[in-house]
Amino acid sequence: MTAYGSFPGARPRRLRTTPALRRMVAETRLHPADLILPAFVREGIGEPVPIQAMPGVVQHTRDTLRKAAVEAREAGVAGIMIFGVPEDGKKDALGTAGTDPEGILQVAIRDVRAEVGDELVIMSDLCLDEYTDHGHCGVLTADGRVDNDATLERYAEMAQVQADAGVHVVGPSGMMDGQIGVVRDALDTIGKEDVSILAYTAKYSSAFYGPFREAVGSSLTGDRKTYQQDPANVRESLRELALDLEEGADMVMVKPAGPYLDILAKVAESVDVPVAAYQISGEYAMVEAAAEKGWINREAAIAETLLGIKRAGANMILTYWATEVARRIGATD
Ligand code: PBG
Repeated sequence: MTAYGSFPGARPRRLRTTPALRRMVAETRLHPADLILPAFVREGIGEPVPIQAMPGVVQHTRDTLRKAAVEAREAGVAGIMIFGVPEDGKKDALGTAGTDPEGILQVAIRDVRAEVGDELVIMSDLCLDEYTDHGHCGVLTADGRVDNDATLERYAEMAQVQADAGVHVVGPSGMMDGQIGVVRDALDTIGKEDVSILAYTAKYSSAFYGPFREAVGSSLTGDRKTYQQDPANVRESLRELALDLEEGADMVMVKPAGPYLDILAKVAESVDVPVAAYQISGEYAMVEAAAEKGWINREAAIAETLLGIKRAGANMILTYWATEVARRIGATD
């Protein structure tokens, strides 16, 4: 077959000849139903507030969040992941606003559920960092360390108020040991056995969360290295994965996505539950910033990052571009 010096015996280029051929042989395709829109809702504002480090993303009012949910559904997006930002002055050491049935996240879940019902999967961030005055994902001990087990009690309560508000899926993102088991128990105890858990299984301590901290008005001064994972490690993720599955995770997530495609591929190979990846704020900001400078083709770059994440094994992708990309796919396919 191989011919030296005359003609190549194999010509992979043949299947790249026309757009139609390339489309036919594509191994990976993005579909609107692969996408989940993360969205921020802020208490007590009259107008949406733009997030400087995430051009095009806002802190929604209750009203505009509803609209964003409807637009996402109309574009065919699978779900929405809601983050609540409490009013200034409502943060405290225990993150009380996170368990208040009238807290912003709970109210927003009810709003969105009333608006779109079961037509969009409604998900909620289950973590304390948006609500604590120190900005950590848990409560602190007297000497300022994050208290794992005391935090679990807060998460149990959060899971219950979010479920009562009508969420379909809770997303525990605080990386406390035992959080999935405790949340499962808390949900089952109040008869919410149908509420699913999307476990943030491999959540790395990442510099790329920077813009998110602005998005939720984070008060954090230190870092999260005692609970989020070290970017140097792979085996640690597989251990977290085994624990989350044992504790009852229905779906698992890798986060960030782009810099951790190796982890995503390994997780996807080794589980029989759906796998999500979160393309986070810094991944979004980098593409937007480079595109704004005219250094890359924005739409092509967005599509390529998402295709890469899907190719690595993600069934679902959380991305701030969800609605925009879903519309584009709908228009061309
Ligand atoms: C924690 C949480 C974070 C993100 C989602 N949930 C931030 C953090 O751990 O500091 C980051 C999402 C993003 O950067 O887009 N509640």
